[in-house]
Amino acid sequence: MPTEQLKVKIADTFGAASESYDVSARLQRQSGNIILSYLQQNTAKTKNPIVVDLGTGTGYFADILKSDHQNIIGLDLSKSMLQYASNNRNKDINWLAADIHQLPFADNSIDIIYSNLVIQWCDPLHKAFAEIERVLKPGGTFVFTTLLDGTLSELKKSWANVNDDQHVIDFKQLVDVENDIKTTNFNIEILKQQPIVLDYISVKHLANELKSLGASHLPNKVNKGLSGKGSWQKMTKAYQQFQSDSGCYPATYQLCTGKLVKHKL
Ligand SMILES: C[S@@+](CC[C@H](N)C(=O)[O-])C[C@H]1O[C@@H](n2cnc3c(N)ncnc32)[C@H](O)[C@@H]1O
Repeated sequence: MPTEQLKVKIADTFGAASESYDVSARLQRQSGNIILSYLQQNTAKTKNPIVVDLGTGTGYFADILKSDHQNIIGLDLSKSMLQYASNNRNKDINWLAADIHQLPFADNSIDIIYSNLVIQWCDPLHKAFAEIERVLKPGGTFVFTTLLDGTLSELKKSWANVNDDQHVIDFKQLVDVENDIKTTNFNIEILKQQPIVLDYISVKHLANELKSLGASHLPNKVNKGLSGKGSWQKMTKAYQQFQSDSGCYPATYQLCTGKLVKHKL
């Protein structure tokens, strides 16, 4: 699928989830708090920095960033997400519909960019890093989280018992993310991987959560329709091999967190 069409699809899938997103965003809350703490460690404090929440979604973290900073811009591809954010968040946040690959900001104009669980949707990733670097001021900070290969491995292995279609998006390895960053003028202060395991009461619970988060778009899936009842049952049976003693179904997310600083001129 051509890139622009793919982006419309991603925006539509997230947009359709704008109302249900916040109640299902357990992983997003955990990961977002980790990179908030990276910002608190910022030693070079600028007076009234311009802060962008890139891929703001429902604006949850833009709202939190607003409690510490005056100038917040929440940017997202999805107009429905931005509509939800502007109805529900601090009225002094500026909301902007735009694409990370083409940021509507001048070179060297932004102090801090925060981005929680967004750049796994950016292809090619190195171009997203280059664009973020372009708009940051020298010495400016970019904190981000993304997901890495091994995410939803239980679901992937369970589906592998049924067919070889795509059921989980393709995530990069940490070394690929690092290599993409190295094509830019960023200094890597933090770049690490950590697993986060969440429990679900059933496989349906997991599937519903992924759907309500808008994270169900699969660009390389051959069979675009819903999986048949038989396939679904076979997959959920295979998932039982991962069930814990307490009866929960675990799902592993391989979280990448990073803090990058643009080199001073
Ligand atoms: C998983 S949500 C994360 C939302 C928010 N950062 C949070 O922590 O809850 C990903 C968001 O990234 C947005 N997004 C995906 N690709 C984008 C792009 N190329 N440019 C801007 N936003 C994008 C989606 O529309 C969606 O709202």
